[in-house]
Amino acid sequence: MSIISKDLNRAKQLLESNELVAIPTETVYGLAGNIYSETAIKQIFKTKERPLFNPLIVHIPDSDYLENVAMEIPEKASKLAKKFWPGPLTLVLNKKPTVPVLITAGKDTVAVRVPNHPVTLKLLKTLDFPLAAPSANPFGNISPTRPEHVEKYFSKKIKMVLDGGACKEGIESTIVGFNGEDPIVYRLGTLSIEEIEAIIGPVSILNKKEVLPDAPGMLERHYAPKTTTILSDSIQKTLKTLEYKKIGLLSFGPKKNFPEVSTELSLSESSNLEEAAQKLYDAMHQLDAIDLDVIIIEKLPETGIGRSINDRILRATK
Ligand code: TXA
Ligand code: MG
Repeated sequence: MSIISKDLNRAKQLLESNELVAIPTETVYGLAGNIYSETAIKQIFKTKERPLFNPLIVHIPDSDYLENVAMEIPEKASKLAKKFWPGPLTLVLNKKPTVPVLITAGKDTVAVRVPNHPVTLKLLKTLDFPLAAPSANPFGNISPTRPEHVEKYFSKKIKMVLDGGACKEGIESTIVGFNGEDPIVYRLGTLSIEEIEAIIGPVSILNKKEVLPDAPGMLERHYAPKTTTILSDSIQKTLKTLEYKKIGLLSFGPKKNFPEVSTELSLSESSNLEEAAQKLYDAMHQLDAIDLDVIIIEKLPETGIGRSINDRILRATK
């Protein structure tokens, strides 16, 4: 029997009994548990096979709730929250002592966001605790953007995926932390650097080498299909170097129809970057399921969300 269900009450009851429920958000599905339940939080790490040094994001119902989990909030953080919540922005802030260190991997900071999905917002408002939720995939694998992706990964490990349809945005939230008052982007994501800088001025982007183990979303290999995957800015050239038989292509713009390619999906036939983000993980799930020898993904323009998509593709190819 399918574990996918729209039963909000059951989701609430499971979460109140220290169990996990996969929840929809506008970015990707999350594997959620009560932040104050040690049983639930340990179960999240176990289910994902996620290392304990990798902290979790805390999902809260609205901006007013922030003061229950974070303190000493920089002015620029408040400005961003006011502008983008509910939405694909995660803020890393000093934590309240009441936030369990199991959530934050022993750090004094906590990552927080208000997700923008009607079903999950409704759920959060009926619960009297926030939800810790990493993306609902085994550690390092492709993130889930449909309830079926979660079911495929975890049908034997969790009781319920709360059905909220396909995720609107399709890649993870952008993570912003602070050094004093200075904003630092820890992870590129749905919210583009341009959109953030329009509100708070220049931000720095954390260099991968400096980041470990601060934001393992920046780990070199992550978001990865099982099939060998190549990022290419010239499909034609890449095809010349390959001797594989079954080649999959994830292109951008009108289909290219190369005779060497056995399956081609376009992330957006009209070259729309938002559409490409929305489709990226689903297309990777699809190509990964059909037993190809290699998947080639076309590099996207490095502007706006294109930069975040390229970041994910690059990590999928390491
Ligand atoms: O869109 C999203 O953010 C999704 C949905 C479900 O909300 N969640 C998600 O969670 O992507 P996860 O666990 O896959 O990625 C969380 C990232 C990790 O890279 C983690 O290292 C970073 O957030 N993180 C969490 N707490 C942190 C902290 N205190 N300091 C720095 N990075 C932190
Ligand atoms: Mg993840």
